[in-house]
Amino acid sequence: MKILLFGGAGYIGTHVALAFQERGDTVGIYDNFSSGLRENLLEGSIVYEGDILDRTRLQEVLAQKWDAVVHLAAFKAAGESMTRPEKYAQNNITGSLNLITECVAAGVKNFVLSSSAAVYGEPVYLPIDEQHPTNPENYYGYTKLAIERHLQWFDTLKGLKFAALRYFNAAGYDPEGKMTGLEHSPANLIPVVMEAAVGKREALKIFGDDYDTEDGTGVRDYVHVTDLADAHVRAVDYLVKNQKSLTVNLGSESGLSVLEILEASRKISGQKIPAEFTGRRPGDPAKLVATSKMANSLLGWYPKYSSLDSIIASTWNVYHRHFPGH
Ligand code: UD1
Repeated sequence: MKILLFGGAGYIGTHVALAFQERGDTVGIYDNFSSGLRENLLEGSIVYEGDILDRTRLQEVLAQKWDAVVHLAAFKAAGESMTRPEKYAQNNITGSLNLITECVAAGVKNFVLSSSAAVYGEPVYLPIDEQHPTNPENYYGYTKLAIERHLQWFDTLKGLKFAALRYFNAAGYDPEGKMTGLEHSPANLIPVVMEAAVGKREALKIFGDDYDTEDGTGVRDYVHVTDLADAHVRAVDYLVKNQKSLTVNLGSESGLSVLEILEASRKISGQKIPAEFTGRRPGDPAKLVATSKMANSLLGWYPKYSSLDSIIASTWNVYHRHFPGH
């Protein structure tokens, strides 16, 4: 098949590209390289430099007949989205509407959206299933929910079939070490821990020690990016075969605290990793854990690489390579 990935040079997008390419699909990468990395582009993929805000460029590239589109082009820093909502509105919402509109005009039938657990907000019950109320606590989460809702309308009105994949906390690197590009200025926990391990930042700041969790720090459901990538391949196959839209959680179904991540990282890296407690980060729920039963049954998707050790070891391998003194 011919698969076009928007945001295909980003952290998750490059792993998704690898998964499609490994099973023999033709992969197009459309990216504006604002945070995407050229060093992660795979040999054999077709690269289109472009922005999802550029309708003419979208039309040009979509005219080349694609079996499915995967949309991962978004700003994703939940904290920043609360201080710069206009930036997130323009790129994530306006850009996605451009893309959806141009996909329909070009006759694209299958659309996979990189969505997020951030659509749920503060949990009302755990584990979170797809019927859980959606009340995003940050603007980033709202942008993902807005795109999902637009997709539902375009399914009803125009017959565009979509898979909304609600990732929990994406983490880890390709276990075979093919992906080596590090994100610039990461804000997520694991890359921040790694930067503290290699001396790129002074210490990990632990946001809050008084949550209602076992050790007082935030608990999240970390899911390996290679497992997420596999779900995209399965989602495309599902859409092509069933011509029916779906919305599913993708999580490992186990909760890990900030301190557990820190301890495992110290053990696996052999580094001290300085850390200090600071206040809570606004908009951070105490605990988020998924149930992925729907992805199990509809997509036959089960995470294989999402153990704590596999996530930390695959990430440390990459950081260690970039900072060999550690
Ligand atoms: C958030 C979004 C998630 C999104 C992801 C992308 C929510 C609820 N979740 O995940 O949907 O895909 O961003 O960026 O909006 N922490 C520290 N110190 C740090 C960084 C993080 O203690 O320097 C803690 C946080 O308080 C949290 C955990 O580590 O408990 C994970 O944080 P992070 O990696 O930023 O992800 P989320 O905020 O869970």
